[in-house]
Amino acid sequence: MLETIFSRVSTRDFTDEEISPEELNQILLAGMAAPVGRARYDTLNLTVVTNPELLNEISTAEDYSSARPRAPLYGAKTLIIVSSKLAEKPDIEYSNVGAIIQTMALAAREQNIGSIYLWTCIASLKKHPEIVKKLELPEGFTPISALGVGYSKTTLEKHSRPRHIISVNRIK
Ligand SMILES: Cc1cc2nc3c(=O)[nH]c(=O)nc-3n(C[C@H](O)[C@H](O)[C@H](O)COP(=O)(O)O)c2cc1C
Repeated sequence: MLETIFSRVSTRDFTDEEISPEELNQILLAGMAAPVGRARYDTLNLTVVTNPELLNEISTAEDYSSARPRAPLYGAKTLIIVSSKLAEKPDIEYSNVGAIIQTMALAAREQNIGSIYLWTCIASLKKHPEIVKKLELPEGFTPISALGVGYSKTTLEKHSRPRHIISVNRIK
């Protein structure tokens, strides 16, 4: 488990091959196992987009040419958009969605599948209600973030330590 956590990495160069339905299903089930404030799982929705035209529309909704190569989806053939309807606690949907996305990213890594947390392109969908409509979300739901998943063009390395440092202070 710890090796999977330490070995998760953002993939920004996916192959053209879609992951299998079984692999995708495990990732979705993992998302459903994430913690959610006050267990309000009913305020969340997962949309799986594999339709090439819709993926292309999301990719080209804004000008991403000054961003990284292949941005914003980096060639991911499967996009899992996590949407929420506003909960009673302000902004709690962002924490809920973050927990779901990270849990799905770990389930992907455990299966040797690459993933990328996507915020920018989903946030910019606010300006494109015509695209959001195509997600066929239940009434009142708004896309918050997404996870792009697929096979990485480069081998996913295994790590036994974190690749980043966050400061820690201790109160004894
Ligand atoms: C809330 C959030 C939003 C992010 N949005 C994007 C994004 O829109 N595009 C992108 O390429 N990476 C995005 N990332 C990925 C981060 O850039 C990445 O996690 C960070 O650089 C650390 O690298 P690592 O994931 O390889 O450990 C996002 C990550 C988080 C947690």
